[in-house]
Amino acid sequence: MSPSPSIGQTPPQTSGAPMQLNVNANENINGTLVLPLWQGSETMAEGSEAGVHRNLKNQVDNVLSNGDFKAKTGSSMTLAGLDEGKALLIGLGKPEDATEQSMREAGAKVIAARGKIHGTTLTIRFHGLEDSHMASFVEGMSLRDYSYDHYKSKDEDEEEESELVIHVTCEPDKVSDLAAATRLSSAVATGVHLARDLGNAPPNDLYPQAFAKQAVEFAVNHDNLEVTVISYDQAIDMGMGGLVGVGMGSERKPCMVIFELNGDKPGPSPCIVGKGITFDTGGISIKPSASMDEMKYDMHGSATTFGVIAALAESGWDERVVAVTCMAENMPSANAQRPGDVIKTYSGKTVEVLNTDAEGRLVLSDGLWYAGTHLDPSYIIDLATLTGSIVVALGHEATGLWSNDDELLANIKAAGEHCGEIAWPMPLFKAFEKEITDSKIADTRNLGAGRWGGSNTAAAFLKQFVPERDGEQIPWAHLDIAGTAWGAKTNKLVKHGATGIHVRTLHHLITGQ
Ligand code: BES
Ligand code: MN
Ligand code: ZN
Repeated sequence: MSPSPSIGQTPPQTSGAPMQLNVNANENINGTLVLPLWQGSETMAEGSEAGVHRNLKNQVDNVLSNGDFKAKTGSSMTLAGLDEGKALLIGLGKPEDATEQSMREAGAKVIAARGKIHGTTLTIRFHGLEDSHMASFVEGMSLRDYSYDHYKSKDEDEEEESELVIHVTCEPDKVSDLAAATRLSSAVATGVHLARDLGNAPPNDLYPQAFAKQAVEFAVNHDNLEVTVISYDQAIDMGMGGLVGVGMGSERKPCMVIFELNGDKPGPSPCIVGKGITFDTGGISIKPSASMDEMKYDMHGSATTFGVIAALAESGWDERVVAVTCMAENMPSANAQRPGDVIKTYSGKTVEVLNTDAEGRLVLSDGLWYAGTHLDPSYIIDLATLTGSIVVALGHEATGLWSNDDELLANIKAAGEHCGEIAWPMPLFKAFEKEITDSKIADTRNLGAGRWGGSNTAAAFLKQFVPERDGEQIPWAHLDIAGTAWGAKTNKLVKHGATGIHVRTLHHLITGQ
């Protein structure tokens, strides 16, 4: 159902064919030779010259020994003009400074620096690198191999532009481990790219029902995944006043999408909950118009959630995992909720809606309660582009992380560090809970007393809607990704737009891989 079908399109379901990666120990060089080099190298790594034409090797050795290419972190150089082939030199920086993240970024540099001159076939020659460094380098290539050009008209010959074919070569005894790592990181990258596609999709084409339809279609192709949609009418019947209150002002009605992967396996299981505001105008408490277009990313929590499920499915994860996305469009209209309304959420708790722009916490209140009461979670992690104030606090460098469980918090923080997706601990002080529970006329209010600490009062609000089990609140964590879901200019794995943040963190947390 699309109310304005003639002007939009179906958003893309994949970002084009992914690169093809072949791992082997061959000496052949197809296309451009790509050499990852440590800072200070004066020649090609010994033993890595096999198959490289003498003239090309001399040229590489010359630029290295002259100091024309120092192989500093983030640097690259193209060598061309010889009949014997081209080379792309990639600086790895100093070996003692290398991290998995610096290696991912070096891999991403191959894709960023490629340009037309190198064509679509590359051969990477790894030599003398640690297994984990090679794996991270390949992961960085896969992640950076993304562009969102679905809505750009293409010329005939651009259409012809074929996918990248990359031959990754390494020492023979390392081939099988690197091939396995490559398969895993490619599968996870599929989930990251799906999340980025969803985040980048324009809001006229990606509305609650369109997201639900895409999830249902994804499940058709995956036997071990079940997707159920709670429709607007059902949400009304069930008493989901948060979801309904936020979404009712739009012609594109809200819905909740439930994912269950490997439902035949026993629970309790990890549970992910995503904020899915497909466009946030602020509602009657309308936002200023500058940069309002960015509010199409306000569904990135649910984009990440879907992306995690996809990453798990594609990588063959066979334990149970559940997820909920709370989809709504926040519009001002004759049917929209008003500041001053009191709504009754699915939990039974009432909320005084003091600002209709604080809508994410309202849809999540129903999503969290549903997750805790219907899905048998071992823990619940929600992701939301929840507040501007987390961007004030942490910029685009880190996600805010709150939890009612120290162990869960530590595990998420560690998983984020492992993946180069930083989640930084923030407090759940009692004073914040007090601020949002002191409404004169309802159980809670959706706004803090003032604007200070806004991301903390938002988290404290969410905490009110995490159900108890055996007298104790279910372990829960909240990730405010308002600053990390887009606009992260320092993120070298992303060119621009939606980032797919935390698909990898959560895949790693859940699988340990
Ligand atoms: N979606 C916004 C938060 C946001 C702001 C995300 C900037 C990304 C960039 C959210 O729904 C919102 O409007 N939050 C308000 C809450 C306030 C009214 C309490 C905010 O942060 O200003
Ligand atoms: Mn808002
Ligand atoms: Zn919002």
